[in-house]
Parts: sequence; C-alpha cells; structure tokens
Amino acid sequence: MSIQSLDQHLKDFYNSEKKSLLANYPGLTLHRLRQDINLHAFLNGVDSEELFDFPYLPSRTNPLTIFFEKLSDGVPLEYITGYAYFYRSLFKVTKDVLIPRSETEILVELAAQEIKKNFKNKNCRIADIGTGSGAIAISLLMDDGATLDMVATDISEKALKLAQENFFTHRYSISNNHKVSFIKSDRLESVPGKFDIILSNPPYIKRKADWAEVHFQVTNFEPHLALFIEDDQYDLWFQEFFTSIYEKLSDQGVSLVEGHENHLNDLAAMAKTIGFREAVVIQDYSQRNRFLKLKK
Ligand SMILES: C[S@@+](CC[C@H](N)C(=O)[O-])C[C@H]1O[C@@H](n2cnc3c(N)ncnc32)[C@H](O)[C@@H]1O
Repeated sequence: MSIQSLDQHLKDFYNSEKKSLLANYPGLTLHRLRQDINLHAFLNGVDSEELFDFPYLPSRTNPLTIFFEKLSDGVPLEYITGYAYFYRSLFKVTKDVLIPRSETEILVELAAQEIKKNFKNKNCRIADIGTGSGAIAISLLMDDGATLDMVATDISEKALKLAQENFFTHRYSISNNHKVSFIKSDRLESVPGKFDIILSNPPYIKRKADWAEVHFQVTNFEPHLALFIEDDQYDLWFQEFFTSIYEKLSDQGVSLVEGHENHLNDLAAMAKTIGFREAVVIQDYSQRNRFLKLKK
C-alpha cells in the first residue's frame, strides 16, 4: 500500500464523502476543512507549515484519524476541534454548551453600541442570562469603553464551569477594572440587584412546533437544554423571564434578547402586557426577526 500525504488523503476524503459532508455541513469547503485540521493539529501540539506534506498513517490513536471519523459521523466541526470563533476571539466549546452563532455577534454589537452611547467612562451593570460558553459576556468584557460589572448566569453547572474557563483564558485581554461573576441560576432568580443592561440568548425553539426546521446536526449534537422549551410551557417560561427582566432592569435600562423568528412578534406583544413601554423586534443581516429590544 502506498502512503499518502495528508493533503492527498484530505482531498480523497472530501471528494468521496462530499455528498454526506455537505448534507451535514452546509457549504463546507476543502479550504475550511484545511483550516480546521490546522487548528486541530495545533491544539494537539503539531505546529508545522508542512503539515499537509506529512505522510498520513491512519491509526486508532492518531488524532487526525479520529478527526476524520467524527466528520463522517457529522459531529459539528467546533465540537471536533473544541473551539469556535465568535466576535473577535476563539472560545472553547464542549458538548455541554451551544456553539456560539454568528447572529449572536449582532447582540454583542447592539450591546456594545448601548454601552458606548450611554455609559462611556461610567459604570455599567450587565447580566448575561444563559451564558453558555460565556461568549457574549466575555466578548463585551474585552471591548473597552465603560467599567463593567458583569453577571453571567446559567442553569447548567457544566456550562458555567466552561464559561469560567474561557474567562480565565482571555483574562489578559480584559481590563482589571471590570468585575465579573458567574452564578448558577434559573434565569435571574438568584441574582440580587438591578441592571443597566440585560442580555440573553435563551433557549427559544418550541420542541414540537419548530422541530422539523432544526438541522439534524443541531438536534443530534447540541445540548437540548440550550435549545428547546416544551410547547405547552413556552408562554409561561417567557412570561416569567420577561417579568424577572422587568423587575431587575433599572428605570433607564435596556434589555436585548435573541429569539425565534416565528415567535418574536408574539413575544414582543407579551412583553408589552408585562409593562415594557418599548418592545421592538430587530432583524439580523439576513432580514429575519432575531432580537427583541425592551425598555421600561
Ligand atoms: C441558546 S444557549 C446560549 C448560550 C450562549 N449565551 C450563546 O449565545 O452562545 C442558552 C443557554 O441558556 C441556558 N439555560 C437554559 N435554561 C435556562 C434557565 N432556565 N436559566 C438560565 N439559563 C438557562 C442553557 O444552559 C444555555 O447555556
């Protein structure tokens, strides 16, 4: 048997599995795979420009063989490499947290604009409800402008642990003036005090009604706690959620919440019945309803 270079193996693998790869990873290119293999190799201690010229010898213990097997199984690339790019940084991800999405970067941008507009060189207390990997909270902490007191909550202990690990990794890019705490809580239940800004990308998919629209890679590999709410509990969950945001938001405060395009108009109407004077639906870059901006 002739020994192939990694480059040749990758090309053969991509061409022979292209159909199922593209079903699992819409838009996946050979170029993106090369980048992820580079990252994966780097994180496994191999840092060489000649990586793709190396001979590739499949074996049960070769991290690249495991990489190719996981690709064939449809495991999301971010869970294979263990890292996801978000906003301006790389965040560790595990199967216990949602892979942060590019749409959610808009939530960070909107929050950063609020901070610049209303809190330049001032203190600003922010909550990130359902922090997951910590991507939203940590990205804002890395953006300078105001002194932030950031409270990141999650109901999942494993998620909170990972968020703290990501905070530790990025600590040198975060000003010492900021304060941060990670709190296990159902929404904002165990969190005292008021907030100037309340952010959240909560679970917002109705398990039954929306299930068919969710890509099977998401339902197969991402944590359901981060994604789904039972259909018959949906309204009550958001009523309690908005009520606690209303109670914890300072009088001039703003809340930005990501949501499902099919449900955001109903949720905006619900927020108004709870007392918010402003509940505006904001679209993402593909003109889909994606966020709610709430003001008291
Ligand atoms: C859609 S994920 C968002 C993760 C992260 N903020 C992001 O944008 O990538 C929702 C997160 O909310 C957490 N969560 C679910 N139910 C919760 C609850 N009742 N209270 C607090 N967090 C909750 C999940 O564990 C998960 O980390």
